[in-house]
Amino acid sequence: MKKKKRVEQADRTERMVAALAHEIRNPLNSMKGASQYLHDKYSGTPEIGEFTSIIISEINRLESYLNEFLNFSRGIKLKLRQTDIESYLNGIVMIVKHGFPSEIKIIKKKTSFPKIMIDQEQFRQVFVNLFSNARDALKCTLDPVCQVILDSDKKNMLLTVRDNGCGIPAGKLNQIFTPFYTTKDNGLGIGLSISRSIAVRHGGKISAKSAPGRGSAFMISLPFHTGVKHAGK
Ligand SMILES: Nc1ncnc2c1ncn2[C@@H]1O[C@H](COP(=O)(O)OP(=O)(O)O)[C@@H](O)[C@H]1O
Ligand SMILES: [Mg+2]
Repeated sequence: MKKKKRVEQADRTERMVAALAHEIRNPLNSMKGASQYLHDKYSGTPEIGEFTSIIISEINRLESYLNEFLNFSRGIKLKLRQTDIESYLNGIVMIVKHGFPSEIKIIKKKTSFPKIMIDQEQFRQVFVNLFSNARDALKCTLDPVCQVILDSDKKNMLLTVRDNGCGIPAGKLNQIFTPFYTTKDNGLGIGLSISRSIAVRHGGKISAKSAPGRGSAFMISLPFHTGVKHAGK
């Protein structure tokens, strides 16, 4: 399939998913209200309290999925803005650092970088996902380290988020970007697949390498000239 056609088809699928997510949200809200009512009224009754808790926590989980999808699909049209990557990342780190198990250190391989054209909201989602995964992975480590390395080649901004956490087994590395793949009890398994879609929407790429037991690195490459048209508001 030609690239343009592939992009159009992906956009259509994403719009359908967004519409579906909206449709699911309303009945889910009613179900949540109803089960909350039953829970408050009958939680003293053995079994009923237990089952209504299960229903409510599962509804919350579905809601988290929907919110992720809706945030993602809202951005089908990129709102590209000239961005100074360093101050942009500093702003994200300021928010994420609370409760993070280590300092998040930004390391520059060059003194300055050209501005990049990105949808800042969408890329915030990418970095928040990567930092949240690093936070989980760093639970395995006594001396946690997390770094963001900024570099560039002639055409691309190169961004690497590294941690020295639990790492990813070699046989699993090719699955982590697959939707719904998760190794966590409460994981949704969509952070990396959404992050990859966002990078691709920007004409970029995201890949991972890992040494099990020693850590992981997620590499984003973003062209300075995306060729992606500014879609406006
Ligand atoms: N920094 C990391 N270190 C180790 N494993 C990771 C890291 N980032 C992602 N993974 C693996 O990839 C899986 C998918 O990640 P993600 O799509 O963000 O979903 P979730 O975090 O909800 O599980 C995780 O469950 C984990 O197994
Ligand atoms: Mg995640």
